[in-house]
Amino acid sequence: MTRKKISSQEAIEMEAKYGAHNYHPLPVVLSRGVGAKVWDAEGKEYYDFLSAYSAVNQGHCHPKILEALTDQASTLTLTSRAFYNDELGPFEKYITQLFGYDKVLAMNTGAEADETAIKLCRRWGYEKKGIPENKAKIIVAENNFHGRTITIISMSTDPSSYKGFGPFTPGFVTIPYNDTQALAEAVKDPHVAGFLVEPIQGEAGVMVPDEGYLKKASELCKENNVLFIADEIQTGIARTGKMLACDHEGVRPDVLLLGKALSGGIYPVSAVLADDDIMLCIRPGEHGSTYGGNPLAARVATAALKVIEDENLCEKSERLGKIFREEMGKIDHEMMSLVRGKGMLNAIVIKPKDGFEAWDVCVKMAEMGVLAKPTHGDIIRFAPPLVISEEEMREALELIKKAILSF
Ligand SMILES: Cc1ncc(COP(=O)(O)O)c(C=O)c1O
Repeated sequence: MTRKKISSQEAIEMEAKYGAHNYHPLPVVLSRGVGAKVWDAEGKEYYDFLSAYSAVNQGHCHPKILEALTDQASTLTLTSRAFYNDELGPFEKYITQLFGYDKVLAMNTGAEADETAIKLCRRWGYEKKGIPENKAKIIVAENNFHGRTITIISMSTDPSSYKGFGPFTPGFVTIPYNDTQALAEAVKDPHVAGFLVEPIQGEAGVMVPDEGYLKKASELCKENNVLFIADEIQTGIARTGKMLACDHEGVRPDVLLLGKALSGGIYPVSAVLADDDIMLCIRPGEHGSTYGGNPLAARVATAALKVIEDENLCEKSERLGKIFREEMGKIDHEMMSLVRGKGMLNAIVIKPKDGFEAWDVCVKMAEMGVLAKPTHGDIIRFAPPLVISEEEMREALELIKKAILSF
């Protein structure tokens, strides 16, 4: 059964007319993807340097993940957790052994993983730390991004996330990112149950903290009986050159959040990992999701993680990321003010010139065949699928250079 395809123009007009205006996409309509490449409705080829915000680390339509998806889709897709299914247990065993935790709680979206972690952390705070009922606090960092629910935007310091959506959920304490002094002060409050942090702030523009920050932060948490909760939804699963960004500093979070590439962009799967002392604070009937832990998700996520291991994508991300930053650093142009990142999660800061800014650079790159999206007006993030070959990346680098030099 083939459906008649619509043109790019028709797709854009339909979305504008019938869809909510909650996004402002680049004017590119994608119709097909394989590996690091995507094609628009008219057949123009692009390198995907966004990877759906690091969900497609394994590349578009990876055959091994698709095989798991289609096989399971024609066997059993959803049972709800009212019954057991024979795929969830094997997935739970595999992922907990891979990341070294006692238990996992499977959800669907990244935001749900964060929401779950907040509930788990508060519950642990009351049951294990002895915080008086309804007094628990969680420390968060300025410029964080953890998703879009009301509780999550209650932690946000970005007006475009929270403005006009109050009243907000209480119980969060905001401190500057990359500031261990501020954390050392904040964790002293006996009502603090956890510190929720992104090891690299992706949405804020790939803000890499100083070396040693995560280690010190995790030590401060340990010394003060506060849970160190790492949101690795964007940085995890090989994106930064190791399986987890926390691995760069040998830090083991008390609570680990995964999403996005956990399914290779094929199906929404997220997960919260923790040891028994924490995870068993939630008991039957106290948390869940109709789709969370369904057999299709379990198969897809298992296959997606195996691809990372089998194709050595951590090493590749580390190696190609170095080349990327080195080559970008050589671009001699007044709009290029900074290159930063780790592994294959990188960004450049664009200095506006003659009224042209990061958005215009992205439009130009798209014309040349490389897709990336500006964030915060002056930053462009570059995060291609990790299956990209060195040759493909060098070709894309040339196109990016050409686009920047055209201004
Ligand atoms: C660090 C981080 N946490 C959570 C989320 C939310 O994930 P989702 O969009 O799947 O809800 C994102 C999404 O960009 C993210 O980058």
